Amino acid sequence: MKEKIEQYLKEIDELTASTKDELEAFRLKFISRKGVMNDLFNSFKEVPNEQKKEFGAKLNVLKEKAQSKFQELIEVVNTASSKEEAGSIDVTLPSFTNTGSLHPLTKTKNRIIQIFERQGFSVAEGPEIEDDFHNFTALNFPENHPAREMQDTYFITKNPDTLLRTHTSNVQIRLMEHGQPPFRSIMPGRVYRNEAISARAHCFFNQVEGLYVDKEVSFKDLKQTLYHFAKEMFGKDTQVRFRPSFFPFTEPSAEIDISCFICKGDGCKICKHTGWVEIGGSGMVDPNVLEACGIDSKEYSGFAFGMGIERITMLKYQIDDIRLFSENDMRFLSQF
Ligand code: DAH
Repeated sequence: MKEKIEQYLKEIDELTASTKDELEAFRLKFISRKGVMNDLFNSFKEVPNEQKKEFGAKLNVLKEKAQSKFQELIEVVNTASSKEEAGSIDVTLPSFTNTGSLHPLTKTKNRIIQIFERQGFSVAEGPEIEDDFHNFTALNFPENHPAREMQDTYFITKNPDTLLRTHTSNVQIRLMEHGQPPFRSIMPGRVYRNEAISARAHCFFNQVEGLYVDKEVSFKDLKQTLYHFAKEMFGKDTQVRFRPSFFPFTEPSAEIDISCFICKGDGCKICKHTGWVEIGGSGMVDPNVLEACGIDSKEYSGFAFGMGIERITMLKYQIDDIRLFSENDMRFLSQF
């Protein structure tokens, strides 16, 4: 028994293990209940009493040595296998994650919201199925006025008072009729018009409406707000031009043009060689609109604007066909 113990001590001293299998072999032989220690403790029972002290001490030394060697080997093997695993990762392999992306119109809408929120605007929404009052009458479109035809409305045949909204200006009315100024909101949403579908026009598209009503709001507030928007959206060198126009719900009214950021004003296909591109309409809210919503137009004034989200997106990403936005072609969508 003495020789056996000496032999095992020597064996443990000299042993090395670098794989998990070798570690397991060590465990089975020296640590597990069925290994050599068990045999030794069994033979210990037969050792004469006067020698028990000496053998007991030797057995304990062997047991402790086996334990500490085992701990040591665990460390060695773990470090070796983690190195091996790290070495087996090929970082040049393509990743398998395909996370998808936001629709370009959603991206533009989110950016527009961000820019206006930073100027104190909140976001409001209204119905796409609307009545004549909110889409036209309250917005100062006289009955049978040709301006109603300008908008190629889809009426709902069962109820001619109901229609698909032709613009997001209806949300201005929905907002103002139930409250008192100040109002400072933008209103993004989908609109519908009975237009022939082409690369430049669609029967549904998205607009973002803006409304700011308070005491002493003036045209210079409108200009400043849209200057800031244009520079944030299209770059700090962008210039803004207001062209006189007409809308029933604003007086005075102006079309908003920005300097063509593609050719920097030199003239190109996108700006039809004028150096300017139109992004929407705007103006001072007509007093009739305020009054239709129960707001005192002598005390309050406001500005409003409406811009096409497709138009802004097409300009920003140089997309030349509006139909691409609704065709769900992955080759197009995966570029955003
Ligand atoms: N509603 C107009 C359109 O669809 C856009 C517009 C113009 C909205 C001027 C406004 C505005 O709020 O002030 O063509």
